[in-house]
Amino acid sequence: MVFLQIMCLFMLGIVCIGILAVSLIFIYLTVSAGFMHSSPAVPSHGKVKAAIIAEASSILKNKLPQTVMDLGSGWGTLLLPLAKEFPKHNFVGVERGFLPYWISVWRSRKLKNLIFLRQDFFETNISDADIIFVFLLNSTMSKLTAKIKNEMKSNSLVIANRFPMKDTQPYKEVNLGSKYYTYYVYKN
Ligand SMILES: C[S@@+](CC[C@H](N)C(=O)[O-])C[C@H]1O[C@@H](n2cnc3c(N)ncnc32)[C@H](O)[C@@H]1O
Repeated sequence: MVFLQIMCLFMLGIVCIGILAVSLIFIYLTVSAGFMHSSPAVPSHGKVKAAIIAEASSILKNKLPQTVMDLGSGWGTLLLPLAKEFPKHNFVGVERGFLPYWISVWRSRKLKNLIFLRQDFFETNISDADIIFVFLLNSTMSKLTAKIKNEMKSNSLVIANRFPMKDTQPYKEVNLGSKYYTYYVYKN
């Protein structure tokens, strides 16, 4: 009987260690690429996500084919619903995190107008983009602002969730209740 109890405890210990190991690997693969260097793979969510998607939808409606990019696309949260709704527009997600990237690729497998690139967006050509989404920490936004100003074409738009572009006046600021639920729209 005692032997059986010890065996049960031993097995339980093994299971707990297994769960802990899998969780740690998951957390590492999820946040490491972003978190260690800049922004973790936290998706846009709730009312901000809905408002940004609505904002982009109103811009894309009745427009000739546009290119929409998400720099640091995470799990594909913004691009997947838009790519489904607007099959004639092109959507590109750029994500360097291993797990968010591969999950995005899997989730978009049936969409012909959405691709994900696994790369550092500072190395990405953004000159074709008509609209860019960003949800990145201030430290990254400072660096990225220069790239956006140098490379994006005129009349293109940037929609920034929560963290604004550096030293740049948005033409629209939407506050949905607090600074945590705010997004900014910029025109180049
Ligand atoms: C806060 S999440 C935003 C996800 C998505 N844009 C959204 O709004 O749901 C930021 C993502 O940017 C990615 N990221 C941060 N710096 C990056 C870089 N230099 N190149 C590519 N991806 C980056 C992180 O891995 C993370 O998944």
